[in-house]
Amino acid sequence: MTEVAQSGAIADRLALARSLADEAGAMALDFFNRRETLVIETKKNLQDVVSIADRTVEEMLRAKVAEAFPEDGFLGEEYGQTEGTSPFTWIVDPIDGTAPFVNGMPTWCVSIAVVRDGEPVIGVIIVPCLNELYVAAEGFGASLNGKVLTLDPARTMQNGLTGIGSNSHVTPEKVGAIVTALMANGGNLIRNGSGALMLAYVAAGKLVGYYEPYMHAWDCMAGYCLVKEAGGHYLPFPADQQGITKGAPVIAAGPGARDDIWKLADV
Ligand code: IPD
Ligand code: CA
Ligand code: CA
Repeated sequence: MTEVAQSGAIADRLALARSLADEAGAMALDFFNRRETLVIETKKNLQDVVSIADRTVEEMLRAKVAEAFPEDGFLGEEYGQTEGTSPFTWIVDPIDGTAPFVNGMPTWCVSIAVVRDGEPVIGVIIVPCLNELYVAAEGFGASLNGKVLTLDPARTMQNGLTGIGSNSHVTPEKVGAIVTALMANGGNLIRNGSGALMLAYVAAGKLVGYYEPYMHAWDCMAGYCLVKEAGGHYLPFPADQQGITKGAPVIAAGPGARDDIWKLADV
């Protein structure tokens, strides 16, 4: 594909990703507003929850992408991977922050990414309860509700906040050691229950960095695209055939906190 064709292919998919984010966000918000009627099921353990909301939103996203770009691959948290024949794969988390969602808190989002040969080239994250839309694409920059995002190198681990994520894949001792190292270096932590949203916060300069030792591609690819396009750094996700469905460390930071955030992964 020529460079012009690449850029056209990204623009076409970006237009779809934006409209799908609106549709998925409205659908998820409707479920959220009547969440007492949802049957909450557990997956790996009592903290790992899911409902018909997650599945219905992913089904809609899968169907619409397959209709518009039948040649593209698709990977979603709830229904897994469908391989495509083009260099593009859509990677979605229909609801990231299911724990805040089912417990009535606003920090959940729909996360839609497109990767080209494993590299995130589109990231769209919608946060329906907070009326936020984060959009990024290769060659198009990053924005929050239409405002361009550019990271400030003066923001550091010491004068800003760092997002830390944890789940049952990581030992309590490891999480404790990460928090200890962060605070010993003059930082402080936030966790809002959505890794995808906290990565978007890094792109928006609300957080100076994010670290979670084990997350999946659907949790991080859209956020990674946002961080990259805002001028930040991220640890590439192993997005080859072997790695794409498995978990891996997720790290992202603005330019002023990069070295300190990366050191958290050494503890
Ligand atoms: C989870 C959230 C959470 C992170 C977990 C993820 P889910 O995704 O992003 O913040 O700590 O590792 O699994 O289950 O809400 O889609
Ligand atoms: Ca998730
Ligand atoms: Ca999810």
